[in-house]
Amino acid sequence: MTRVRNAIVSGLVLLLGRRRRRRPREEDTRIVPALPPNPAAELAVLALLGLSSLAALGFILIYAFANSLPAVTPLLGATIGLAFLFLAAALVVVGLRLVPVEEVAEEYPPHEHPGEQQVIAEVLDESGTRFTRARLFKLGLFGAGGTLGLALLAPAVSFGPLFHVGDFLRTPWRRGRRLVDENGRPYKASDIAEKDFYLAFPEGTSDEEKEQMAASLVVIRLPPAQLDLPPHLKGYDANGILAYSRICTHAGCAISLYRAPLFQPDEPRPALVCPCHYSTFNPANGGTVTFGPAGRNLPLLPVYIDSGGYLRATGNFDGPVGPSWWGVRLWKAQP
Ligand code: FES
Repeated sequence: MTRVRNAIVSGLVLLLGRRRRRRPREEDTRIVPALPPNPAAELAVLALLGLSSLAALGFILIYAFANSLPAVTPLLGATIGLAFLFLAAALVVVGLRLVPVEEVAEEYPPHEHPGEQQVIAEVLDESGTRFTRARLFKLGLFGAGGTLGLALLAPAVSFGPLFHVGDFLRTPWRRGRRLVDENGRPYKASDIAEKDFYLAFPEGTSDEEKEQMAASLVVIRLPPAQLDLPPHLKGYDANGILAYSRICTHAGCAISLYRAPLFQPDEPRPALVCPCHYSTFNPANGGTVTFGPAGRNLPLLPVYIDSGGYLRATGNFDGPVGPSWWGVRLWKAQP
């Protein structure tokens, strides 16, 4: 703790105590006349920068607690708008009250002359802000710029978590868990007919748990000869019975259409279709996307038929369930 405190104190001393080295000059006379100190304008600028920081901070807090606040969108618009407004007002006050205006008309010199360049550099230097609380002003400016930058970056959090993603990856599916229908009745393999489509849930889940993203499945049966599963999904089917996640990998709608191959040759392949934006998945080859905006395969749950003829899970899905987010690539299949 002591080392951290010392580091913070040293940093502040360096930031606030750093003195600008004065450039050696032949005469100690100013080229641009100095403005008289204007403490009221300086205070106004600091106050406006502080208000800009507070408004940007308000935006971040409203964004963070958006679920528990009413009228979030107008609040977000108002806070980010005020942050920019206060920042602009601070800069206007600086320009009107604190920066001396100097107009110099001069013939362009025929040749470079080091002495004249030095004078021009002096004029530029002295035309800068005459701010008696210069370091405080810099801190205010960095503070307002920093909080505004954070406020603009805050919405990126909505792309999804990068760390602590355990809750998103947890599924109720374990080896040996039976597949049941909406009323809790276990499915037998003989219940699953070709060209039909069944909803399934893990046995023993409550109605509330059935609503969880990774709980529900769509179960279909294809002739084993039609299966073309990639090598890492070999054995995921049970005699042609396939159990896919019901949640579309585009934006999380429920897959609720099954197009059996009824329109040959126009629609020769079976397809699971999401009704929201028509992402279409080929169940024969591991749920690959054949149409629409989904960016990844529909996750497949490995299943087997037990000695009583019931369908059971062999393990977990082959990929993360639901829409993609930053942490999806960190996912590792759990047996
Ligand atoms: S949510 Fe399924 S296609 Fe968009």
